[in-house]
Amino acid sequence: MKLLITGGAGFIGSHVVRLFVTKYPEYQIYNLDALTYAGNLANLSDIEQSPNYTFIKGDITDAKFLEDMFAEMSFDGVIHLAAESHVDRSITDPMSFVMTNVVGTVNLLNAAKNSWKDSASGFEGKRFYHVSTDEVYGSLHNPEDFFTEETAYDPQSPYSASKAASDHFVRAYGNTYKLPVVLSNCSNNYGPNHFPEKLIPLMIHNIQTNKPLPVYGKGENVRDWLFVVDHARAIDAVFHTGKPGETYNIGGFNEWKNIDLVHLLCQIMDRKLDRPEGTSAQLITYVTDRAGHDLRYAIDAHKIMNELGWQPSLQFEEGLEKTVDWFLANQEWLDNVTSGNYQSYYQGMYANR
Ligand code: NAD
Ligand code: TYD
Repeated sequence: MKLLITGGAGFIGSHVVRLFVTKYPEYQIYNLDALTYAGNLANLSDIEQSPNYTFIKGDITDAKFLEDMFAEMSFDGVIHLAAESHVDRSITDPMSFVMTNVVGTVNLLNAAKNSWKDSASGFEGKRFYHVSTDEVYGSLHNPEDFFTEETAYDPQSPYSASKAASDHFVRAYGNTYKLPVVLSNCSNNYGPNHFPEKLIPLMIHNIQTNKPLPVYGKGENVRDWLFVVDHARAIDAVFHTGKPGETYNIGGFNEWKNIDLVHLLCQIMDRKLDRPEGTSAQLITYVTDRAGHDLRYAIDAHKIMNELGWQPSLQFEEGLEKTVDWFLANQEWLDNVTSGNYQSYYQGMYANR
């Protein structure tokens, strides 16, 4: 199996690459990543010497590059995670989300389709797995509602609109060209290597450095949090046992109001940093709300649990402790990603193919 994983230098992608490289030594894993501000090869330093792992620097917005690479490499499968992923950035710069998330995904679909249809076995034994988000379903307002695989798409931010568009293209290629596609839509992830522009790592970093903790609006928005390694395990299950053409929702049945989550993090950090109880919470600062801020996300994950036997392995409090411990033990990683040092360090080490 020659497997292409896109976005493998990012937060979730690096956990997926690690899982596949270590669990499937018989597979050849190719990690294609443009190394944007969010991509960081230090996330994979522990496995980069593995004989079944190859890094390829490249941009999915470059259609010719993808066509050439697919023609040369004859991949059997694709797990597509490369994306622009931060809602706040999508509000200030929507076009880069259109380019990577929509155009980049269609480029990848074309490259896979064109190389596979001309191969001896055609689409037989091939798989194109598109990794997406629960944000495509929009915002929940009734506390009894959950996002199921049948929930109509209703994206509210440029980020979620771009992911929704990419999901539609993937399904359209499955329907029109019979490309063997499978999709998953996951809730908010957290864990080691999370880029510190997102809520949990930003709060950990700011608590540690005694900076204000910016809570948008009243902090009443609800997110459903899943430990990143559990998402990687779900991706493994969907890639290997998901039915062609199907979609699987992935989530931890773990809803938290932002303000409650920030308070819990403050308590954990006070304990870890030997600060008197209540010290970190004094840093909480309510700031102007995000434009178009979705109120609540909550995934109904029964389908993947019942049909593929996947379940989350960690309770949230345990996962948060592990996450905080990782950030406290990896200060150098945090300093480097926040200063952009990794990008300049790796620039030039890997030639563009
Ligand atoms: P991330 O921003 O941490 O990583 C994205 C990776 O993609 C980076 O390594 C970046 O260098 C790479 N990339 C960006 N543009 C590229 C391009 N044009 N060509 C090649 N590589 C490019 O994102 P993440 O949080 O790890 O999310 C990964 C995927 O999972 C995304 O598709 C996202 O929509 C989806 N997702 C994320 C979450 C979450 O909570 N973070 C939840 C559900 C689904
Ligand atoms: P984020 O981690 O950006 O994920 P998403 O917007 O994709 O769910 O944000 C999680 C929640 O935290 C979301 O409701 C916005 C809120 N938030 C803050 O209150 N302050 C912050 O500084 C950030 C980054 C997010």
